[in-house]
Amino acid sequence: MITIGLKETLLSLLLIGGGRHLGYVKQQAFEYNQTYDFYHFRNIRYAAPPIGALRFRKPLPPIPEAGIQHGNISVEESACHQAEPPAEGTTPFGETLGVEDCLVGLLRSVSAGDDVPVLIWVYGGGYIIGSKEMWGDPARLIQSANESMIYVSINYRLGAFGWLSPQNVTDIDSNIGLHDALAAMEWVKKYISRFGGDKDKITVMGESAGGGVIMHTITSNGGEGKKLPFQQAIVQSAAFPPKRTQYTDRNAQYNQFMTLANCTTLKCLRDAPTEVLLKANYDLIMNHGSLDIGNFGPAVDGNYVQDIPIRLLAQGRYHHELKGLISSSMGFEALKQFPTPDSVKNDTFEVLFNRFYPLAPEALKLATYALYPYQGPGVPEWLRTSAFWGDTNISCNGAWLVRSFQKSYRYVFNVPPAIHGEDVPYTFYAGPNPSIANDTTAIIHQKFITDYVIHGEPRCAMGACFGQYGLSANALSVNITEIKVIRDPWASERCNLLVHLMKYN
Ligand SMILES: *[C@@H]1O[C@H](CO)[C@@H](O)[C@H](O)[C@H]1NC(C)=O
Ligand SMILES: *[C@@H]1O[C@H](CO)[C@@H](O)[C@H](O)[C@H]1NC(C)=O
Ligand SMILES: *[C@@H]1O[C@H](CO)[C@@H](O)[C@H](O)[C@H]1NC(C)=O
Ligand SMILES: *[C@@H]1O[C@H](CO)[C@@H](O)[C@H](O)[C@H]1NC(C)=O
Ligand SMILES: *[C@@H]1O[C@H](CO)[C@@H](O)[C@H](O)[C@H]1NC(C)=O
Ligand SMILES: *[C@@H]1O[C@H](CO)[C@@H](O)[C@H](O)[C@H]1NC(C)=O
Ligand SMILES: *[C@@H]1O[C@H](CO)[C@@H](O)[C@H](O)[C@H]1NC(C)=O
Ligand SMILES: *[C@@H]1O[C@H](CO)[C@@H](O)[C@H](O)[C@H]1NC(C)=O
Ligand SMILES: *[C@@H]1O[C@H](CO)[C@@H](O)[C@H](O)[C@H]1NC(C)=O
Repeated sequence: MITIGLKETLLSLLLIGGGRHLGYVKQQAFEYNQTYDFYHFRNIRYAAPPIGALRFRKPLPPIPEAGIQHGNISVEESACHQAEPPAEGTTPFGETLGVEDCLVGLLRSVSAGDDVPVLIWVYGGGYIIGSKEMWGDPARLIQSANESMIYVSINYRLGAFGWLSPQNVTDIDSNIGLHDALAAMEWVKKYISRFGGDKDKITVMGESAGGGVIMHTITSNGGEGKKLPFQQAIVQSAAFPPKRTQYTDRNAQYNQFMTLANCTTLKCLRDAPTEVLLKANYDLIMNHGSLDIGNFGPAVDGNYVQDIPIRLLAQGRYHHELKGLISSSMGFEALKQFPTPDSVKNDTFEVLFNRFYPLAPEALKLATYALYPYQGPGVPEWLRTSAFWGDTNISCNGAWLVRSFQKSYRYVFNVPPAIHGEDVPYTFYAGPNPSIANDTTAIIHQKFITDYVIHGEPRCAMGACFGQYGLSANALSVNITEIKVIRDPWASERCNLLVHLMKYN
């Protein structure tokens, strides 16, 4: 009797102190943060641990957990397992980090019953790295709203754990990382009211691979089936290596992973000790990171991913129920890959074309050369090459997204050098910092984001107004000295051509 009494006391304390009973788990807030006035919930499970027999399968609902969970697990012990070749130079943690059992999210909530708007952050990292707390502290972003909102950040599986997609292997699910993200978004829709959130005011936001995940979700099932669990999206530099029909690479990747894990069957992979698979993933990325075999990301599977997203958008096969979106591109997404005039040879463009579109008919090749013309000796060859690379992997995604919804907004992040990923510190601006060239720019950028989350439109901030895309393809150029309206540089024939080219990817 006493024990039961004690439990009940604990439960009521829990409810007063920011704890939440979710049916499958009693989750206590990790902390109440007085400075910023929020409850910080860490490592809430949204799916069953994806280990053993559940490896390489879509996530299943979470299993009941006993006791009261405080979610006090370090980033190292909760991030999805990841590795990155040192040459990439962006890893904030060294070469490797994380675990298999990683399907958790974090939440900064308000009081239950407040019914406030919700922002879900989906991290980027080339589908091989990232975690829900890796790219920045959201405290200042949330504060810029000047009204209550909830911030949620979610993990999804990376590398071989999230993105193997061999053809003709029936007992493996493809695009697992996409299904993880969807499950987490569905979790938010189902449970967020218990944390004070409004399930009908959910905005998802992601950069690079995070944007790619969101873009694939918007075009999932070709727009058929279950409605999206969110209403708005902010898609920043959506990026993915297009994988449509190149099954050879996809199977080579799967086979190489098996070899590295000492396996010849899928069952062996599911039975293998976790360390063996973590090592195989590490080896695959470290040894083949720069080649297609070491490249991970969403792949067309004819089911959840019916085609390359821009092709689905062009055909009207996407979730029209989304209320609207903001899409952004960096001024020079691919400048890191092609940093200087001598980073390309005179045949790099052709090599790249043949690699991206090995099956393209001659007429489309000629059309591409006409739109990315060689301009003769003395004209920088690397500019057209980097434009072509950036358009294929990133920029035209943003252009197609914005033209697919009536209530949509577009910006180009032009603060020099405006390379892929440099906008992230501006999203998570937390005060003066060497990676911020103009603090006012950062403050305005944050305000646009939170105004959109709260009011459904980015409005005006400190004199800069962010209007709709409309028929004139209006984009906001966010630059170091000024913020002004320009015509979207990717409202172009190049992005139209890409829809046809992608058929041959
Ligand atoms: C979380 O765990 C760490 C390491 O075990 C411990 O030092 C810390 O006090 C814990 N924090 C809370 C709020 O329980
Ligand atoms: C409150 O939150 C801020 C921003 O995330 C953080 O820097 C600070 O350490 C937190 N305060 C406490 C007492 O945990
Ligand atoms: C924030 O909200 C307060 C109270 O509603 C208001 O007085 C203040 O002007 C607002 N600040 C901004 C920057 O919108
Ligand atoms: C998959 O099966 C189809 C039909 O049998 C076959 O044409 C194709 O070559 C197979 N693909 C691979 C990568 O084995
Ligand atoms: C762009 O695509 C190429 C070819 O598939 C790939 O190697 C590269 O990693 C991709 N980049 C990004 C950012 O997805
Ligand atoms: C793979 O198998 C060989 C031979 O049985 C063994 O020596 C090696 O340690 C195994 N490697 C792993 C990663 O299990
Ligand atoms: C590239 O340059 C080499 C020599 O510098 C020349 O032989 C070759 O024809 C050029 N190729 C193209 C496609 O212009
Ligand atoms: C952004 O501003 C810099 C510095 O004023 C300028 O050199 C650059 O041309 C601008 N970029 C664009 C795309 O307007
Ligand atoms: C910083 O950005 C703001 C807003 O665009 C602009 O008014 C200001 O002149 C910029 N400051 C500098 C030093 O460029």
